Amino acid sequence: MRKQTVLSGIRPTGYLHLGNYFGAVRNFVKMQEDYNCFFFIADIHSLTTHPTPENLQAGVKQVLAEYIACGIDPEKATIYIQSDVPEVTELYTILNMNAYLGELERTTSFKEKARQQPDNVNAGLLTYPVLMAADIIIHKANFVPVGKDQEQNLEMARKFAKRFNRMYGKKVFPMPRPYTFDGKDMIKVPGLDGSGKMGKSEGNAINLFEDPKSVRKKVMRAVTDSGPTEMNQKKPEPIQNLFTLMEIVSKPETLNHFEELYNNCKIGYGDMKKQLAEDIISYTSPIREKIISLLGNNEYLAKVAKAGAEKARESASATLNEVKEVVGIRKLY
Ligand code: ADP
Ligand code: TRP
Repeated sequence: MRKQTVLSGIRPTGYLHLGNYFGAVRNFVKMQEDYNCFFFIADIHSLTTHPTPENLQAGVKQVLAEYIACGIDPEKATIYIQSDVPEVTELYTILNMNAYLGELERTTSFKEKARQQPDNVNAGLLTYPVLMAADIIIHKANFVPVGKDQEQNLEMARKFAKRFNRMYGKKVFPMPRPYTFDGKDMIKVPGLDGSGKMGKSEGNAINLFEDPKSVRKKVMRAVTDSGPTEMNQKKPEPIQNLFTLMEIVSKPETLNHFEELYNNCKIGYGDMKKQLAEDIISYTSPIREKIISLLGNNEYLAKVAKAGAEKARESASATLNEVKEVVGIRKLY
């Protein structure tokens, strides 16, 4: 049977952090074994926030190295840079003709961004979900592994795909669905500042590229309280976040040990943080070393990007040709 297609992407706006890794990239690595996978770097999307050319270029190279260092194998999955596949932006232009101002303005991420950057509410921000839909449907993706924050964008992609199919009376695009490898809900990696989510824009991220000293410093600074006063007390959010992180990176025995200390009001958060920092470091150190070595190998990175671009363009141009034929953009010569 033909393998189903998986696609996902991340904007190159900095280093990948533990949230990106456990929420998304780790799933990419697992999925590449069983699916026809496309993982890309959304450089055009990141232009909505006006990075400097130097930062954009460095960000693209960084994410490429990080994808590979995390275990995405360019022999198994197609890794590419969005701007290397111009068919995507061509499909985006066509899809824009059937994307309505009202629905785009109502998108939560647009409203949020418009609030965050009131001086830069550009058209690219408004049509962000259209470009994302083009990314997905240009490869006729069946599954899109992303975190919960991307749910609405994915819903919009389904809406645009369905609208196209209906308008032209042809089943050109399958409906792209969210996906997690283990069938569970996407995990949300919490921040260490006592708040909800670890994120670049939240400024609370521990990066995969973080050096051990800096990991220790960030973890030791995590928000805690003066400790439980009653046996088996419910954990307040900042404390629960520490435990959730430990659940993600540490051995079950380690987690149990600190759970027990907490429940018996004997916990010392300093000891727990030290352990958590070391467990994060043992996760990130090997990845960090690989990133450093890959960043020193421009030739290899260029080779991967070129091969990925070729494979992605082959798949993308097949779909774009079909779309053009369907809408009536046909050659006169
Ligand atoms: P950020 O929020 O740091 O800007 P992105 O929006 O670039 O991260 O997210 C890239 C991918 O990583 C998306 O699929 C997103 O859902 C996932 N992701 C980001 N932060 C987390 C988190 N804290 N927990 C789980 N998944 C996350
Ligand atoms: N919007 C996604 C994010 O911010 C990045 C992205 C762009 C994406 N195009 C995509 C994710 C297509 C999945 C599929 O994380």
